[in-house]
Amino acid sequence: VRTQRLIAAISAEVQPGDVVVEVGTGTGVLAVAAVQAGARHVYAIEAGALAPVAREMMRANGVADRVTVVEGWSHAVSLPERGDVFVSETIGNAGFDENLVAIARDAAERLLKPGARMIPRRLSLRALPVEAAADWLAHQLFRPESAARWAEWYGIDFSVLPTLPVASGSRRLVLPRGAEAVKVLGPMVDLAEAEFYPTWHTTMESAPVAELTLAGEWNALQIFFEAELSPGIVLSTDPRPAAEEKPDHWATPLWLLPAQAVQPGQRWQIDFAWAPRGRHKLTVRAAAATS
Ligand SMILES: C[S@@+](CC[C@H](N)C(=O)[O-])C[C@H]1O[C@@H](n2cnc3c(N)ncnc32)[C@H](O)[C@@H]1O
Repeated sequence: VRTQRLIAAISAEVQPGDVVVEVGTGTGVLAVAAVQAGARHVYAIEAGALAPVAREMMRANGVADRVTVVEGWSHAVSLPERGDVFVSETIGNAGFDENLVAIARDAAERLLKPGARMIPRRLSLRALPVEAAADWLAHQLFRPESAARWAEWYGIDFSVLPTLPVASGSRRLVLPRGAEAVKVLGPMVDLAEAEFYPTWHTTMESAPVAELTLAGEWNALQIFFEAELSPGIVLSTDPRPAAEEKPDHWATPLWLLPAQAVQPGQRWQIDFAWAPRGRHKLTVRAAAATS
């Protein structure tokens, strides 16, 4: 679903003759798609070990003369010409945690023509108040199998770990398929949004207020993103049941909070600020106030 949507967006945005700049080409699949969509030339930038792989991919697909694989970080490279279209799949589990805003801003300043089309054109980060089943959470942190394995390795008894209460304030990754253990207690709130096209606008701080709609033991926020790749083509990791197929490539992070019993109608607020540096790149403070 993920790559299909990205390719659909590339087909919709790339016009014959365009120069395309892709940041983080990985295997190079999207660069090939850009050539197939009519790009005159693609600059496929890749800092990781996959750059030689991407080069082989271009040869194998007969597009090596139309794609230049550029090894290095996008902010450290320069290109012989500016692009009409920007493409990047540097979208992390928490949306902004692969640095898309800085990458897109730097590319817009140095590597793209003014008004270049951007894929994605908009990225939003959202949160849901949830109750994650306590026994399931404990197993996410310390699995009995791991405790048994460590005991064998080190000759030390680790079996108490999976039975301890979960410490709050830490962030865990949850795969969408683990979401059955997670009960949503109220509507989503918007945490941050970056629009790259047609206008440039980023809101990386917010203090949304919302109301819980279900009673439960509130102990986490589940984080997901929505990326608008092109008008009508959206990638979303919204974990709530919906008719649409979900991309299986991303996990949805859980921020653990001190557990508290909550009631429908209770209001709550997050102070959210995106902090691009540091290991925990996002900070959330949440408090439920009785109405
Ligand atoms: C999610 S992967 C892209 C996957 C690709 N679309 C594919 O299907 O193979 C992101 C890639 O971006 C690269 N990357 C991240 N930030 C970068 C930057 N600023 N400059 C160049 N490469 C970057 C990483 O090394 C990684 O290979």
